[in-house]
Amino acid sequence: MGKSHLKIYTILMISNVCSIAIGQIFVKFQDTCACEQLLYEEECKADRICNYSNDKCQTIQCNLLPAKDCGYNDNCALVNNTCVDFKSCASHNATTEDACESLNHNCYFDDDQNTCEEPQIFNMGTCSEDLFSICLVANEGLCFRKNGVCQEMKVCEDVIPMSLQCIAAFPACEKGNDKCVSHFQCSQSEWLDCRIAKENINGDRYKLCMRGPNGCVNFDPNQQTKESCWKNSTAFYHWDGQGCSRCSWASIMKSVLFVAFLILSI
Ligand SMILES: *[C@@H]1O[C@H](CO)[C@@H](O)[C@H](O)[C@H]1NC(C)=O
Ligand SMILES: *[C@@H]1O[C@H](CO)[C@@H](O)[C@H](O)[C@H]1NC(C)=O
Ligand SMILES: *[C@@H]1O[C@H](CO)[C@@H](O)[C@H](O)[C@H]1NC(C)=O
Ligand SMILES: *[C@@H]1O[C@H](CO)[C@@H](O)[C@H](O)[C@H]1NC(C)=O
Repeated sequence: MGKSHLKIYTILMISNVCSIAIGQIFVKFQDTCACEQLLYEEECKADRICNYSNDKCQTIQCNLLPAKDCGYNDNCALVNNTCVDFKSCASHNATTEDACESLNHNCYFDDDQNTCEEPQIFNMGTCSEDLFSICLVANEGLCFRKNGVCQEMKVCEDVIPMSLQCIAAFPACEKGNDKCVSHFQCSQSEWLDCRIAKENINGDRYKLCMRGPNGCVNFDPNQQTKESCWKNSTAFYHWDGQGCSRCSWASIMKSVLFVAFLILSI
């Protein structure tokens, strides 16, 4: 298996892991608030892809976004350090791996053809089939080998901290000094600044978290104020005038990169 193929599988696995579902306060990443839903100036201005003017919040056009913010809007692509409307992976004449990857849309670079391609869906088989004999990803998600048998990875402690699995399982797993550590609950989400927790390694559900009097707990919109609602919900809720309400407006497909963006930026 070539380098670019291994990368495709890894990317696919990560984007797969990111098609997040909803439970009590579980969220999908495409459900973050769109600029057009935000009513308050402070919320709008805090979102770097939104423009507040004439009492309205609007998505900034790609060509007006600075390069550093381009990746926050999945409808935009960074081409030669300029933010433009994203068309497709192949249509922006990206001829290097860097150019292809900075388009920000899970595009992958085929280093045999020197072309930038759309992500493709492969049947990767099950962990136990281990089609690629590397026991890393399969249809279930991440796999690991134990007693010579390739199986689905369910807890982070099953792999060593230096393994690709421990890193790819972000944010369910944290690479510790001597072990790979599971963080499936809000109470263990301190390392993500108490914003989200991922329920399972291969599951697709994330929990929203917030700070309680005795540590990190599940997010409760009823305890939010106009000032805290949007920010403390990592942009999944907004203040609607009376309370803190869900946006759940499927707008943009987000990637795991976006999760990292959110955690680092808000
Ligand atoms: C914000 O909106 C105003 C009014 O529509 C417009 O003149 C301005 O160019 C916009 N700014 C950006 C960065 O989109
Ligand atoms: C990228 O931008 C630079 C500076 O604007 C320009 O000189 C160069 O030709 C551009 N490259 C491509 C591939 O468009
Ligand atoms: C890509 O290259 C082709 C051929 O050189 C050119 O016609 C086209 O305008 C380019 N597209 C972009 C988005 O730069
Ligand atoms: C919002 O988050 C900040 C920073 O984590 C925290 O200090 C504050 O108490 C939170 N507000 C609410 C209402 O949860």
